[in-house]
Amino acid sequence: MKTRIVRIDENNIDIELLSEAGKIIKEGGLVAFPTETVYGLGGDAFNSESSMKIYAAKGRPSDNPLIVHIADIDDLYKVADDVSDIALKVAQRFWPGPLTMIFKKKESVPKETTGGLDTVAVRMPIHGVAREFIRCAGGFVAAPSANLSGRPSPTSAKYVCEDLDGRVDMIIAGGDSDIGLESTIVDMSVPKPVILRPGYITKENLNEVIDEVTIDRTILDDSAGLRPKAPGMKYRHYAPKGDLTIVKGESVRVIKYINEHINEAKLNNLKTGVIATEDTKENYVADVVKNIGSRDNPSSIARNLFRILREFDDENVDVMYTEGFDENGLSMATMNRLLKAAGHKEVKL
Ligand code: TXA
Ligand code: MG
Repeated sequence: MKTRIVRIDENNIDIELLSEAGKIIKEGGLVAFPTETVYGLGGDAFNSESSMKIYAAKGRPSDNPLIVHIADIDDLYKVADDVSDIALKVAQRFWPGPLTMIFKKKESVPKETTGGLDTVAVRMPIHGVAREFIRCAGGFVAAPSANLSGRPSPTSAKYVCEDLDGRVDMIIAGGDSDIGLESTIVDMSVPKPVILRPGYITKENLNEVIDEVTIDRTILDDSAGLRPKAPGMKYRHYAPKGDLTIVKGESVRVIKYINEHINEAKLNNLKTGVIATEDTKENYVADVVKNIGSRDNPSSIARNLFRILREFDDENVDVMYTEGFDENGLSMATMNRLLKAAGHKEVKL
C-alpha cells in the first residue's frame, strides 16, 4: 500500500487536507494522526472491518481493545451506556485531555473495536489536529497508539513512518507529542472507579472531582501474577532490543553501580547505554548517555522516554541501565512504562 504523508500545523490547520483524511476513514481506510499523548492509528470506530485492519497494520492481537476517540462530550452517549454522574464530572473536568474512560458499550459499537468486550474505552483528545480530524472523520475514530505491536508508542511522525509507512493510507505529521506517554485509563464501568493505566492525569488530579478512585493492583505489583484489567497492559511493551535494567537508590550509589556494570559489559565488547538525568549525565562512562530530563520537571522525563528507547535501538546498544524514579504523580506513569521496557528488571540499592 502506498502511504500518503501530509504535514498539518496545529496552529494553522489545513481543513481541506483534514477533510481528505476524514474521507479515508469514512471509506474504511486507516489514518495515523497526532495527539497530545502519542500518535494514534485511526479507523472508523463503527466499522468492524476498519478495526480488523488496525490490528493487522499494527501486528496486534485482536483481543486488545481500541480506544474510541471523540471530539465532543455529547458524542460519548452515542458509544457508551450507563454514564454515571461521576464520570460526567470527570469528563467535564479533564476532557479534552489525556484521559480515557471505560464504559458499558452501546450495542452499535462493534465487538471488533472493543476486542470482544462489552465495555468501550473513550477519549476526547485536546490536540487541535486530532479534534478536527475526528470531526472530519464522522466523530468516532477507533485508535490504538500508532506503533508496531511491542515497540514504544510513537511521539513523533518520524517514528510513525518508521513503523507504519506502507501499512496505512495516510500519516498526518503534526510535530512532537507534548506529553509523550499514553493517556490515563480509568474504569468507570464498575461501582468504584479504578485506574487501569497511569498517565499524565494522576490519581491526585482525579481526586479533585472524585473521592474514591483506586489503582489497579497489577500496576503497583506486577509480580502478583494477576491479570491486568486493561488487556493491553499484559503484553510486553516498549522493550528495546538490548537488555535494560532500572537501578534505584541514592544517586551516588546508583552512579557507581551502573558504571561498574557498564565497565564489565564493555570488557565483553558490548555497546553500552545509560538513561541519565540533567544532574547526573556527566557522570557515566557508557558509550551512549541519554539525558532524559530534569528530576525537577517530571513532564520532561515523561516526554523523552519513548524517543530514547527507540534511539537505543537505532544505535544498536546492547546493554542499558537507567536511573529509577519515585512512583508518585506523573512519575508513576513513567515508571510503569520503564518497568515494562525493562521486563521488570529492577535493582534497588
Ligand atoms: O493516549 C492514548 O491513549 C493513545 C492515543 C492514541 O489516544 N492511545 C493508546 O491506545 O495508547 P492503545 O491501544 O495503545 O492502548 C489502549 C489501552 C490498551 O491497554 C487496552 O487494553 C485498553 O486501553 N483498553 C481499551 N479498551 C478497553 C476496555 N474496554 N477495557 C479495558 N481496557 C481497555
Ligand atoms: Mg499502545
